[in-house]
Amino acid sequence: MDNQTASKKWFENARLGMFIHWGLYSILGRGEWVMRRDGIPAIEYASLAKKWDPLPFAPELWCRAAAESGMKYVVLTTLHHDGFALFDSKADSFNSLNTPAQRDYVAEFVAACRKYNLGIGFYYSLIDWRYSLSDKDESQWGAAMKALAYEQIRELMTNYGKIDVLWYDGACAPGIPPEMENRIAVFWESEKLNAAVRSLQPHILINDRSGTLQDFKTLEGVNIIRPPINSELWEACLTLTDDDFSYWGHCKSSLCRRTSAQTIRMMLHTIEYAGNFLVNISPGADGVIPFWQMEILGELGNWVHENAEAVYEIERTEIARENPQSHQGNSCGFFTRHKKTLFFYLYEWPGTETKIPYLREKIATVRFLKTGQSLNFSQTSGGALTISGMPEYSPDKYCTVLKMTTA
Ligand code: GLC
Repeated sequence: MDNQTASKKWFENARLGMFIHWGLYSILGRGEWVMRRDGIPAIEYASLAKKWDPLPFAPELWCRAAAESGMKYVVLTTLHHDGFALFDSKADSFNSLNTPAQRDYVAEFVAACRKYNLGIGFYYSLIDWRYSLSDKDESQWGAAMKALAYEQIRELMTNYGKIDVLWYDGACAPGIPPEMENRIAVFWESEKLNAAVRSLQPHILINDRSGTLQDFKTLEGVNIIRPPINSELWEACLTLTDDDFSYWGHCKSSLCRRTSAQTIRMMLHTIEYAGNFLVNISPGADGVIPFWQMEILGELGNWVHENAEAVYEIERTEIARENPQSHQGNSCGFFTRHKKTLFFYLYEWPGTETKIPYLREKIATVRFLKTGQSLNFSQTSGGALTISGMPEYSPDKYCTVLKMTTA
């Protein structure tokens, strides 16, 4: 298997990841867009660096929480739109070494990921508000912003050993006419940039936010999960606040929190389409993950550990869909498969009996995944499968999985 194929296989089976938005904005606690939304001048914003002094063990905390909740990789904002680097950047002094903390959080994060056997993802924002919100003419600041990004990406790809994922964000194309085709790729010279990245990190997987598709597509902040068209690999990222416009970075109030049930349901629909699920956490300036987010991670992790077989190495299946327009499975559940094993996720509970109107293969056994207890079933020659003798109420608070084998 070549580098790329092996990495893609790893990503597919990893299925679950943790996204971490953490930076100077975490001090203010009004989300990662606070500099822009509250109109804070760059100089005033930069003085937050004097207050940056988190607890020393933050990356260890995040990675332990990620591993315990069944996540296989973590993506950290090494630098967000504000331009503040969480790493020792020789290219720009606006970084976490020049703060009271004097620490390279990217180095600590990488070490913690390795300790917990987690894939390592670097988020890097191409746009930098220190340039884009200045009064200067676009054609002037564009070149300086691009030169800095090239150099910092080179630093990130050189100084921390093997990196699994490069997660670009915030692409813009200053000075390029809006009507020009592929303007983002033109401005960033994305092919050149990504070729340089790959020459330093031959195994790396790159997302779709540098103006060209690269290795995987990203969905963002959607409440209805549907796989992107023509995409082999994809990932849905979401915040734990239940609002498409909500914050990824720390928000002191977080008035609109998702529940564990909602989060697990979003994960289930991602699994249905064999995508990856990247759950965002927003640690406070001290580095600590808010308790309400830890509770959700705990519930999600328990479910994942108990149903691991139906989470990681599964594939999409059309086995229970009559035609491309019809629903897959039935009113209470959907299917995925792994070789000759089928998984049926009952995300609502039908009661003592459930009928799946279309199933293209003959079923040999039906069991509860969690307990192994077998269930009675009958199948018509047309394929309809009826499972009976189930309890009246759902055995699992979030979703009960049945495991079937095909004949
Ligand atoms: C957006 C936002 C950003 C967030 C990201 C996550 O592009 O600008 O704040 O980091 O999406 O997908």
